[in-house]
Amino acid sequence: MIDYSPFLSTAARTMAPSAIRAMGALAAGRRDVISFAPGYPAPSVFPWEALREIASELLTGADGAVLQYGATRGLRRLLEALVTVMAERSVQASIDELMIVSGSQQALDLTGRILCDPGDVILVELPTYVGAITAFRGSRAHLVGVRQEPDGVDLDDLVEVLTRERSAGRTVRALYVVPNFQNPTGLLISLEKRRRLLELAAQHDLLIIEDDPYGELYFEDVTTRAETRPLKADDAEGRVVYLSTFSKTLAPGFRTAWITAPAPIIEKLEIAKQSADLCTGGLDQHMVYESWRRGVLSSIAPSLRAHYRRKRDVMERTLRAELGDRASWPAPRGGFFLWISLPEGLDATRMLPRAIEQRVLYVIGSAFFVDGGGSNTLRLSFSHPPESEIEEGTRRLCETIRTEIAPGRTATDAVR
Ligand SMILES: Cc1ncc(COP(=O)(O)O)c(C=O)c1O
Repeated sequence: MIDYSPFLSTAARTMAPSAIRAMGALAAGRRDVISFAPGYPAPSVFPWEALREIASELLTGADGAVLQYGATRGLRRLLEALVTVMAERSVQASIDELMIVSGSQQALDLTGRILCDPGDVILVELPTYVGAITAFRGSRAHLVGVRQEPDGVDLDDLVEVLTRERSAGRTVRALYVVPNFQNPTGLLISLEKRRRLLELAAQHDLLIIEDDPYGELYFEDVTTRAETRPLKADDAEGRVVYLSTFSKTLAPGFRTAWITAPAPIIEKLEIAKQSADLCTGGLDQHMVYESWRRGVLSSIAPSLRAHYRRKRDVMERTLRAELGDRASWPAPRGGFFLWISLPEGLDATRMLPRAIEQRVLYVIGSAFFVDGGGSNTLRLSFSHPPESEIEEGTRRLCETIRTEIAPGRTATDAVR
């Protein structure tokens, strides 16, 4: 057998598989495991009937463009629709500030590629979305963590880290944030902090990569739409590269997402996308466009919010009843995730085999930290399993946690 490692690039040699996908593999083939690992939407809320109808109309053969190659920037009609979608999010974007991509994951990959030379710094939150870590590292960026507070990224720490990195002679390209119901913590960056973040970006000449897959999924008992206002909405200087997706509000199988950024950035992203995949799938884009045009997307949004809010309620209620103050978590105000901190000294990686024995799965929190921290944390997704499984799976997890905890210990703060 040939040893292929001498043939591989440095980037390929250092690539690590996604922890979340690895968790999925652990559960595969075990039907009795309840998995809180992947951040999948619930298939029961996909608008199957409407999609069936749209697909059968699109596939009559009347319009060859449906199955044809298309423009790299994306389907013109969908781009025009996105101008309206962005305006509804208080962002005034023109067509030349938009590009459609094959999932926000592709947007992260392309953004890393156009911004970073090997060793350039991208600042990320501690913790941050694991897919961003892998995408940016694929561009050989050096990721440096910034602490979080209960209302999102810690601005004092941001300035400190930025200053330290620059004085060490490194080029800091951008800060990556997920302001709405962050993956993995569920945290929402406060409006005041968003304003100050933009000020700091101007003051320190920094770009911001704003990733917003979950903004539409706010829970109306504790959050308003106004609180999810994108940073991009107040980006007077053009410092924000904004990413969003139809994955969580329609279906991830369409692999259709978009980037809103200043035109010169979009131009570079377009060239990078040409070599990645020429264009996003035409059928996918037509399906998404028709779902938007016929009002399917807007009509299902309230029921999605209610659906995920009910699931959050079941998970939180069960956790509270079963664990009391033996673990802590920031109350999710939207999105898919609940982030648990176990008492210091407990290790979520060591606990995982015992959780699997109890037939429940989670993602270890350390997978989301670029500084090796977070050993006592774990991420639960309440989005995918049905409510009955959420209750049962959470009970199993709590049983596992209880046996790990020495009597009398309590959790430290959820967000350090
Ligand atoms: C923060 C964040 N960014 C990007 C993505 C990728 O989304 P997409 O399905 O559009 O590639 C996800 C998916 O879970 C996510 O949570």
